[in-house]
Amino acid sequence: MSIVLIVDDHADICKVLARLIRAVGHQAEYRTSGEDALTYLRERVPDLLILDVMMPGIDGFDVLKAVRQDARTAAMPVVMFSAVEEPEFQERALSLGANDYWIKGSVGLDDIGGRLNEYLGANGSSAVRRPKRRPPGAAMPDAQPHAGEKRRLGSSDLYVSAVIFGAWAIGGWMWGGTDERDSIDAIRASIDHGVNTIDTAAIYGMGYSEELVAKAIQGRRDHVVIATKCGMRWDGDEGSDPWPQKDNAGRDVVIRKNARPDSIFHECEQSLKRLKTDVIDLYQIHWPDVSTPVEESIGAMAKLKQQGKIRAIGVSNYDAEWIRRASTVAPIDSLQPHYSLLTRKIEKQVLPLCRELGVGVIAYSPLERGLLTGKVTPDRVFPPGDHRATNKYFTVDVRKRVLEALERVKPIAQAHDATLGQVAIAWTFSEPGVTAAIVGARDAKQATENAGAMRLTLSDDERRAVRAAFDEVAGSLAE
Ligand SMILES: NC(=O)c1ccc[n+]([C@@H]2O[C@H](COP(=O)([O-])OP(=O)(O)OC[C@H]3O[C@@H](n4cnc5c(N)ncnc54)[C@H](OP(=O)(O)O)[C@@H]3O)[C@@H](O)[C@H]2O)c1
Repeated sequence: MSIVLIVDDHADICKVLARLIRAVGHQAEYRTSGEDALTYLRERVPDLLILDVMMPGIDGFDVLKAVRQDARTAAMPVVMFSAVEEPEFQERALSLGANDYWIKGSVGLDDIGGRLNEYLGANGSSAVRRPKRRPPGAAMPDAQPHAGEKRRLGSSDLYVSAVIFGAWAIGGWMWGGTDERDSIDAIRASIDHGVNTIDTAAIYGMGYSEELVAKAIQGRRDHVVIATKCGMRWDGDEGSDPWPQKDNAGRDVVIRKNARPDSIFHECEQSLKRLKTDVIDLYQIHWPDVSTPVEESIGAMAKLKQQGKIRAIGVSNYDAEWIRRASTVAPIDSLQPHYSLLTRKIEKQVLPLCRELGVGVIAYSPLERGLLTGKVTPDRVFPPGDHRATNKYFTVDVRKRVLEALERVKPIAQAHDATLGQVAIAWTFSEPGVTAAIVGARDAKQATENAGAMRLTLSDDERRAVRAAFDEVAGSLAE
């Protein structure tokens, strides 16, 4: 049994956390001031210290500094936590040597065991597995941050969780419909389990997904990074690549890529209304529109940023040339590309370029639309309107080959007490240059499982083995 010391000036928070920790088999003690914490630490060294940032008198940062300067406690794992998402606090905590940073409301009974196992031996054993601590102030250009840490998106002020909730499927369009209650529960469950960013788009359900996001985050707007997209219009005849589709009501629509400045300004206003917010945190151009010079589109995005209507500029599905051209107009904070164990095209040019330019990368379809969970068996039939029914990734042959590859991943998943889907997600967000993985979920159960991937840290050997298992099938899909 390991000993966890909680330090928080609110005794009720200490009691709740102590109860959760005891429920998963560890011993918990608490102190309600920085002064008392230092007295405790002069006598004993716990296996893990959980430390509130803000306290009257000696605050959490002062306690952390003292801990790191004392040879007896210097290597002790320390988690700092606070009631609010505060990137400056998080950055300061990590630079002073904290191993992790939690938001109080996001720690619940169902994931406290997993979180503690990052620092303590599993099942309450006293074997302490100490994660590598980031040396105070040290930059880590090539190493990925700890899976549970929020990650800075490009050079923006946004910090995103390693798992981002993807709100395409809950828009219903192309996914054979949707259940509103399940969709809202899915978003709320992911936030409850540490996801702080939601990715949606105007085109998802033709506005419906954005409306659902607004409903789901009502009262929690300040804790959520909203990412949405423009540039695919279903309500006009300008733009490129006309694409006949059905909307959620079964009506015929023609979708066009349209990234003209006037269209971007119009779409931004519509999205702000649907999202019931006065600023979009990350605004992304969904697809390249070959009928509009990219410089003009990015100029419009920069203007929206100047006006305070958006906080960061993103693009999606751009190739290396478009990213370079876009970057000449304004800093591009993020790229949203298709990237998974089965789809690796961006590794050749796009990922290295994003690293060179400091563009954050938020990878979409890391579960390859459910295939990598192992739950898409050869006999599964997709309902009418679900794009997977006719997609080349979902032929019976590919399903069988993916299931065979997943057999090779099973021992790794088992070693982490994780699902196959969680391993696929963790693999994606831990590849060098990838900031986060955008994962879709239909209901709270899927969303909770997917958020759970943030407790996984795969070793280099495990990442290599997982990648190798899919080399062949990924290669044939790329042909
Ligand atoms: N920028 C773009 O062009 C673009 C394109 C695609 C996606 N995206 C973004 O990326 C997000 C994620 O991509 P995606 O939705 O295509 O694919 P994904 O995340 O790879 O897969 C999501 C789908 O897999 C199934 N699933 C998810 N979690 C599961 C679990 N724990 N167990 C079993 N099945 C599970 C669900 O479908 P079922 O339950 O129906 O099987 C879910 O809708 C999108 O929502 C969107 O935000 C962007």
